[in-house]
Amino acid sequence: MAKRQKVIAGNWKMHKNLDEAMQFFKEIMPIVNECSDKVYIAAPFTHLKTLCDNFKSSNLVIGAQNMNDASKGAFTGEISAFMLKDVGAKFVLLGHSERRHIFGESNEFINKKVKRALTDNLQPVLCIGETLEERESGHMKDVLQSQLEDCLNSVTADQLNKMLIAYEPVWAIGTGVTATAEQAEEAHRFTRKLIENKWGKDISDLIPILYGGSVTPDNVKILMEQVDIDGVLVGGASLKSDSFAKIINYQTIKV
Ligand code: PGA
Repeated sequence: MAKRQKVIAGNWKMHKNLDEAMQFFKEIMPIVNECSDKVYIAAPFTHLKTLCDNFKSSNLVIGAQNMNDASKGAFTGEISAFMLKDVGAKFVLLGHSERRHIFGESNEFINKKVKRALTDNLQPVLCIGETLEERESGHMKDVLQSQLEDCLNSVTADQLNKMLIAYEPVWAIGTGVTATAEQAEEAHRFTRKLIENKWGKDISDLIPILYGGSVTPDNVKILMEQVDIDGVLVGGASLKSDSFAKIINYQTIKV
C-alpha cells in the first residue's frame, strides 16, 4: 500500500497582524525546512501575498480559510478562488465548523465551493464533524456521511485524489476537550470506509485525513500514531511558534 502524505496544518482564524505573521514564520522556517511532513498554514486573506512571496519551501503550503463559490461578480466583501491562486495560495479550508455554525453554510453551498476550488486548481481541505448533541444522540456516523457525501456531490475520484479531508468534532474545537485517540480513529476509519465505498480503494488508501479539535503538543503524538490519522489541523496551538514547532516535531515528543 502506498504511503499517505502526513500533514501538520495550522488554522490561524482571525488572529495575528502581518508583523506577527512574519515573525512567526521567521521562527518556524528552520523547523519546517527540516520536517519530512507537509506543513500547511491557513492565514488571513490580507497576509497571503506577503507570506507566499517571502516564505517558500518544498514542505510549506500556504492557503486561505474560506472563499466564495462564484468565479467573479457583484459579491461585496467576498474572495474568489482565482484571487487566492493569484496571490500564491495553494489550498483553502472549506466547511470548517465555524463557517457552518456561525455563518450558516450548508453542505450544498460547501459543495459548490469545493467544485469551484477544484476547477480553479486550489486544493480544498474539506472539514467535517459532528456536534456534541449529534454524537450523544448516536448520530455521529450519519452526520459524517451526509456532510462528506453532500459536500463531495459529483466530485470525481481524480478530483478527490487532490483533496484533504479533516475530521473535526465540533465539541473539541477551541474547547480544550480533545477526542480520545480511539474516538478520533473510529471516526477516521469510518470516513475512509465511506470514501472507499463511493470513490474506490485506491483513493481511500491514499487520501490524507487530518484530525482537528484542541490538538496540542501533549496529545499530538498519540493521535498521529493512529492508523487512519494522517495529520492534524491545529487552531489555538498553531498561533505560537514554540507550540506549533513541538507539534511539527511530534515524533520527538516523549510520552
Ligand atoms: P483548536 O481549533 O485547535 O483551537 O481546537 C481547531 C480548528 O478550528 O481547526
